[in-house]
Amino acid sequence: MPKPVLLLTRQLPPAIEARAARDYALVSNPTDEPWYKDGAEIARRAAQGGHGGAAGILIAAGDPFNAATIAALPASVRILSTFSVGTDHIDLKAAAARNILVANTPDVLSFATAEIAFTLLLMAARRAGEGERMVRAGNWAGWAPTQLMGVTLQGKRLGILGYGRIGREMGAMAKGFGMELHYRNNRRLAPELENGALYHDSDAGFLGAIDVLSMHIPGGAATAKWLNAERIGQMRQGAIVINTGRGSTVDDEALIAALTTGRIRAAGLDVFDGEPRVHPGYLGLENVALLPHLGSATIETRDRMGHLALDNLDAVLLRGEAPPALVG
Ligand code: DGY
Repeated sequence: MPKPVLLLTRQLPPAIEARAARDYALVSNPTDEPWYKDGAEIARRAAQGGHGGAAGILIAAGDPFNAATIAALPASVRILSTFSVGTDHIDLKAAAARNILVANTPDVLSFATAEIAFTLLLMAARRAGEGERMVRAGNWAGWAPTQLMGVTLQGKRLGILGYGRIGREMGAMAKGFGMELHYRNNRRLAPELENGALYHDSDAGFLGAIDVLSMHIPGGAATAKWLNAERIGQMRQGAIVINTGRGSTVDDEALIAALTTGRIRAAGLDVFDGEPRVHPGYLGLENVALLPHLGSATIETRDRMGHLALDNLDAVLLRGEAPPALVG
C-alpha cells in the first residue's frame, strides 16, 4: 500500500516531522514559508504528492481555512487536523458540507496556556514589563520606596471567563497565590470541577465582583468584542484584564481607552484581533504586557500537540477509525 499523502502547512517540531515522514508521503513546509497564509496556494499544494492529492492536511492556528479555501481543496482531502485547540480559523460548516472531518488538540496545552495567562497576570499586577523596559533602557536610577508599585494577587478575586480546561488550570494556580476564584461559564460545573470557585449567572454580577478578569473563551461570531465599553463599565475601578483566548473577543478601542484613563489598571494580552497585527494603541501604553501568542509554546506541549494531531490523522487515514479529538 502506498503511504497516504499528507500536506503539512507549517514547520513542526523535529519529532513530529519525523513521525509524519515515517507514515505519510509528505508535502511539507520545512522553512515555514508564508504560503500557508494564502488559501489558494494551500489548495494548490494539497493537489500535489500524487494519488490525486493529499488525503489529510495538518494545519495550524491562523491558516485561512475559510469557505473559499475549503471549496478549492481537491476531492482527495478527508481530514483537516489542526495543531491547535482553537478552530476559529476553520469554516466548520464548509468542511462538513464537503464531508471533510476536522480534529484538534484539546487538553494537552491547557497547563502551558494557563502558565502564560499567569505570567501575564503577574506582569500586569507587578508592572514587570515596565520594570524590564526601564532597566534595559538604562533608566534605572536605583531602588526607591515608591518606585513601580504594583498590586499583590494575594486575597484578590480572580474572575475566570470560560471555566473549561485552561480556565480551571489557571484557577488551580491562582489558589496557590491565595486568590479567591469566581467564574462565568455557559453552564454551572459539577462541584468537583469547580475547585471552590463561585459561579455567576450574569455578566454584570460577575464583572462587578472581581479584581481580575482572565478570558478563556473561543473566538468566532458569538464572542466577538465580548469585552466592550459596556462590560468594562461594569468592572471595578482599577481591575486587571488578561486575555489568552482569542483577540477577537476584546473591543480594542474600548480596552485602550480604559487603560489610558486607568479605569482598567493594567492588562496582559497574548492574543490579538487580526494578529500578527497589534492595535497600535497598545504599543505606547506602559500598563499593558504584550506577548506573541505564546500560550502553548513549550517544547513539551508542542510535541504533545503534534502527536495528538498525528493520532487524529492516523485514526482516519491509516486505520479507518474516528479521530480521537474529532471536532463537532
Ligand atoms: C490554540 O491551540 O488554539 C492556540 O491558540 C495555539 O496554541
